[in-house]
Amino acid sequence: MSDPSKKISNFNRRKFIQAGISVAGLSALSALPSQAEPLHDEPLKVQEPDNSRMFPKGFLWGTATASYQVEGAVNEDGRGKTIWDTFSHQPGKVKNNETGDVACDMYHRYKDDVKLMKEMNAQTFRFSIAWSRIFPDGVGKPNPKGLDYYDRLTDELLANGITPFATLYHWDLPQHLQDKYKGWLSRETAYAFGEYAGYIARKLGDRVKHFFTMNEIRTFVELGYGNGQFAPGLKLEAKGLHNVRHHAALAHGLGVQAIRSHGKFQVGLAENLDIPVPIIDTREHILASQIAMREENAGYLSVIMDGKYTDHYLQKAGANAPDIVAGDLNIISSPLDLLGLNIYMPSSYVEAASNTLGYQLIPFASSHPRSTSEWHRMGPESLYWGPKNVYEIWKTKSIYITENGYSSADEITANGKIYDTDRISFMRSYLTQLQRATAEQVPVKGYFYWSMMDNFEWASGYGTRFGLYYIDYKTLKRHPKESVEYFKTLAVKNQVV
Ligand code: NOJ
Repeated sequence: MSDPSKKISNFNRRKFIQAGISVAGLSALSALPSQAEPLHDEPLKVQEPDNSRMFPKGFLWGTATASYQVEGAVNEDGRGKTIWDTFSHQPGKVKNNETGDVACDMYHRYKDDVKLMKEMNAQTFRFSIAWSRIFPDGVGKPNPKGLDYYDRLTDELLANGITPFATLYHWDLPQHLQDKYKGWLSRETAYAFGEYAGYIARKLGDRVKHFFTMNEIRTFVELGYGNGQFAPGLKLEAKGLHNVRHHAALAHGLGVQAIRSHGKFQVGLAENLDIPVPIIDTREHILASQIAMREENAGYLSVIMDGKYTDHYLQKAGANAPDIVAGDLNIISSPLDLLGLNIYMPSSYVEAASNTLGYQLIPFASSHPRSTSEWHRMGPESLYWGPKNVYEIWKTKSIYITENGYSSADEITANGKIYDTDRISFMRSYLTQLQRATAEQVPVKGYFYWSMMDNFEWASGYGTRFGLYYIDYKTLKRHPKESVEYFKTLAVKNQVV
């Protein structure tokens, strides 16, 4: 990009010398004829970007979606009902009472969407499988027609040179499991998940080599069973909530083992761990941020990585601690090949403290900048401290940023373009921090922007747009935003641009 101030100074120097005026006589500028010669008959010097913002060789660039958010076709080919079908059809649960009935209709348009991915130089795609397309009731007889869709999608991706990464659970629990077992309140749901995960590995595992068991356990537990904002819309008391959390972690572990029993795969989960960011990069605050990361994720990633709940977590839970059956913790902490991190923001800032925990969380200032999503505070450093501290604490060998994205107003201009300058600025600043981590040898292997296209943003409906492609929900046409160009360049250069 050219810098306007440079244009003026080049122009001034040349013209003023020709006219015999000193550079200091700036008022003469207005006297110059308006039909001046082209400004740039002397080439302007543009400094080529150097290589210091490169990502490691072989770094994968892609985008992500989730079944209920993009597929639509909720009554097709034997798909069973899910808790999100039920929830979104209850008046008042989703903004404007919108539902995922049609969503982006990716179920029918996946071929065109894969074409778009290829055009944007994406090398990988993370999608989720709708459990209830495969087992309409969550358990029992599989539905071959449902599996066919993921077969076709996988083949299409591979034919276009795009590596599939599949998530097995992105919140669309079969309704039957909610009705029969109260969903994640019961261990039965975890066992059912294990069966389903093994089945998928058996059926797709000849072509899909990367699996995530669950997406954001923290979110579907806290919002679905804690405050009722997401399906199934429950507000459980502490004991129930601890058990829901425990069963979700158990399901993850059972899923890992079931997938492994069918071959050699790269298996992990995609979690939105809490990332307390050191308020200042000094040794004491950095240490506090590591202690805090383990403690603040005690019921989620930490138990999965460590195979135990922290003392503080159990003490705080008291009589409401989860019901742990012998062997559970071993299953939950089954070794992982990779770890997916969904990173949007710091969970808070943190400083060292001389209390029993050794840290003190610092809440966001009320003026802290946000995106159009209320919850979304800007904090590019989270994309450094997330992977960095995960690596320092758990020595994880392979990390993927399984989500990172931004919702913006996305106004269409008169020339039909969508200049999502804020999204591009977001990506550039966050990716600068991710590059900083890779430059320090943190083993981050890939990045999936959330999302490939606008979609059903859960309780916020369709008005909140995270996509690189804009969806016109009347016609379902996809329009590239300016950020598609940004992504294209990024993926080709493998460098922050
Ligand atoms: C995380 C979730 O995995 C995804 O489904 C959601 O749309 C994005 N965050 C944005 O909120």
